[in-house]
Amino acid sequence: MNLTVFGFGSVGRVLCRQALDIGIGVVAVADSTGVLVSSNSSFSSEELNTISKAKESGKRLSDISTPTATLLQPLDAVDYIAKNSQSPVVADCSAYDDPSTYLLPALARNVPIVLANKKPLTGTMEDFLKLTERRDFIRLESTVGAGLPTMITLRRILDSGDEIKKVEGQLSGTLGYILSALQKGDKFSDVVVDAKAKGFTEPDPRDDLSGVDVARKALIISRCMGQSFNLSDIEIEALYPPEFEDISLDEFMSKLPELDEIVDDKVKSAKGKDKFLRYTATVKPEGIRAGLVEVEKASPLASLEGTDNLISFETKWYTSPTVVRGPGAGVEVTAAGVLSDCMDLYGSKVRTQWGNL
Ligand SMILES: NC(=O)c1ccc[n+]([C@@H]2O[C@H](COP(=O)([O-])OP(=O)(O)OC[C@H]3O[C@@H](n4cnc5c(N)ncnc54)[C@H](OP(=O)(O)O)[C@@H]3O)[C@@H](O)[C@H]2O)c1
Repeated sequence: MNLTVFGFGSVGRVLCRQALDIGIGVVAVADSTGVLVSSNSSFSSEELNTISKAKESGKRLSDISTPTATLLQPLDAVDYIAKNSQSPVVADCSAYDDPSTYLLPALARNVPIVLANKKPLTGTMEDFLKLTERRDFIRLESTVGAGLPTMITLRRILDSGDEIKKVEGQLSGTLGYILSALQKGDKFSDVVVDAKAKGFTEPDPRDDLSGVDVARKALIISRCMGQSFNLSDIEIEALYPPEFEDISLDEFMSKLPELDEIVDDKVKSAKGKDKFLRYTATVKPEGIRAGLVEVEKASPLASLEGTDNLISFETKWYTSPTVVRGPGAGVEVTAAGVLSDCMDLYGSKVRTQWGNL
């Protein structure tokens, strides 16, 4: 198996290292400036190390010259690997949204794709259907719950003919961290500042607090269940008012204390009913919602601490829900999820600790 990794950032670089560790080749790596394609069958670990270090130091791939690699544009690179690479896989570890640049061209050349990137799957329904038309050519586990076996669980439930009644979950490590700190009595503004300082939020915390990232994950679950919703159909509750949307990041951070009392009232209201406040996504046949909910103290969602994710599947047969729980973010587990997907596509050709079953 030979990987081409689009998005040579935090996840992409770890993915390459993990791939080499289990004997999977890396034939090309890409950032927003182009695709560096090995002139040999794949990169050696020394070559990848050098490219990785250069990228980490802030260089663009288009500025890295190595005698054993050529910089190509995405379409030419996909063409090249489809013709020259053995058992190729295109992994998307970028946050780029247009599937027509390299994902659909890869599929058109019978190269399977594996995504950690949610955006191509949460654009138009037409693009989603094109990407998922042939199930043996796409895996998307790391788009929801990082490396947790969420989408494979959903697939197995649906394949058995079972009927999903409800999928519910805490799908954001960042919001999980914030809500469990609020539960302990911390102030909203302090918690957000602390989460930002620890690197748990995106550089602009509004990217997490808006709920849109959670909504994208819920949309992927929903579309994989055969529903045809769009992002605009989802009821999304942001943890800040609309007038905080278009102000600068500095102004947003300085205005955060204005929200303390509002959030505190919500936490106290839940406590008054002997419940916990959580930020969840719910996917039901009639629609999708992402927002704050009050959950029973005895429920699995209430027991979550820190950045862990939890997804529960309530079905016709699993009336007591099947629950998947664990770390739902982090580069190592996300990359491992991508690698596991690659193995799912071509696994029989590679021997791992699982053996040859
Ligand atoms: N980090 C996590 O824990 C986690 C968990 C689950 C899913 N994910 C998803 O995994 C993806 C990668 O996350 P990350 O943390 O590794 O992000 P990152 O460090 O920001 O890396 C993103 C990479 O994508 C590259 N890129 C941007 N546009 C591109 C294009 N058109 N073609 C090829 N490459 C392009 C960027 O290139 P430049 O360097 O040139 O800008 C950068 O190298 C995201 O979609 C994220 O949502 C991440």
